[in-house]
Amino acid sequence: MKMGVKVKVARTAKELSDVYRLRYQIYHVEEGFYQDNKSGFVTDVYDSIPNTVNVIAYNDLGEPIGTIRAVEDSEIGTPSDSSFDFTPYREKIRKEAKENGADEPQFVSAGMLAIAPEWRNRRDVFRSLLRMAVDVGKSMQKTHIISTVNHETISIYKRLGWDLLAEPILIEEIGTSIVPVAISLDVIYQWAFDSLIKQRKLLEHFSGCFQWYLMDGNTVLFEQDDKGDDAYLVTKGMVDITCYYKESDKRIPLAHLVVGDMFGEMSLIDEAPRSASAITRGNTELLVINREAFWQKIDENPAYLRDLMSVLSSRLRSADERAILYAHAPVQERLNYFIRALEQYALPDPRNPERKISKTGVEELAEMSLTSPQEALSFLQTLEKENKIELNKGKLIFLGTEFSS
Ligand code: CMP
Repeated sequence: MKMGVKVKVARTAKELSDVYRLRYQIYHVEEGFYQDNKSGFVTDVYDSIPNTVNVIAYNDLGEPIGTIRAVEDSEIGTPSDSSFDFTPYREKIRKEAKENGADEPQFVSAGMLAIAPEWRNRRDVFRSLLRMAVDVGKSMQKTHIISTVNHETISIYKRLGWDLLAEPILIEEIGTSIVPVAISLDVIYQWAFDSLIKQRKLLEHFSGCFQWYLMDGNTVLFEQDDKGDDAYLVTKGMVDITCYYKESDKRIPLAHLVVGDMFGEMSLIDEAPRSASAITRGNTELLVINREAFWQKIDENPAYLRDLMSVLSSRLRSADERAILYAHAPVQERLNYFIRALEQYALPDPRNPERKISKTGVEELAEMSLTSPQEALSFLQTLEKENKIELNKGKLIFLGTEFSS
């Protein structure tokens, strides 16, 4: 079954009520804490503070499956202070900042973590909630996160580099022990977004206004000719961009995108339907920016148009290259061009990293090269004799680096 999880900041009344109801379901119905109440919500005073942010995750049926909350430190303290006094920690951090000539530290508390039972073993769901909370902290320009976490989950926090500030403390009302923890935002931000190092500027720029999608392999994100309202950045996994002729059901591969690559921005720019389809290859995570946020951020900082223009111009260059090949190049040259393109998009064989496997077969190579399957097959058989490739059950296996030289 194809599953997708979408994680976002809860902004609408519906999204916020989903947050409060999910807390109720887990904290009250499942665990028996908090008083029963008619609304079926769990809320507290911190939910009514203007800068409090709730993050919510939905499954692909649109049901809420996870939530976490970020609360800015203020005169009334944070929810984390109700079970542990973080004052000495704050003072220590402030003193250190002063000694190092750094800016005044700004604290945010993370909490009210609730994940529906059937999703609790999905580490990526927990991680994406935490990542979104980290991004919220970043967009609020905070420097440190404090929290009190269930002692049973402490090993996860330890592994991520959180400081444990005390031994487990038994909280009688909830019948379990908590551990006070803290971490600098820079450290946890690095964990959260290290795969996007080359897009760090873009990421920081869009901070606070993106959604996070966790997708299974073979999920169609959108089809060619669909209306498009979002742009995407690959943060894990891979996405194939394909297109098709109207009267053919065959997909022609255009590009194979990896971590750090952006796509889907064309429809946001020209308001035309999607120029191609996008399909995930294996488990894939994506950061998603909607049209409004995209343009608002670009208007705020036109320097980002430069990055965008360089993506567009390199695509136009390769499209020109193909147009010239189609118009003028002999069959052999076209086949050579597309076999190299396929090699570029092929994935390393997990059992032998020297070899790379492409799922594209003879027929697709023939279509891309505007030639017959027989001609494509005889071209591949020659390469096979030269020990450059292997044809195996319709798959193309590239045997080494020598091919591209
Ligand atoms: P859009 O037209 O909104 O939706 C399909 C997306 O696929 C498009 O934006 C680009 O981001 C991407 N795309 C289209 N053609 C290519 C190509 N030749 N190489 C890489 N990406 C492409």
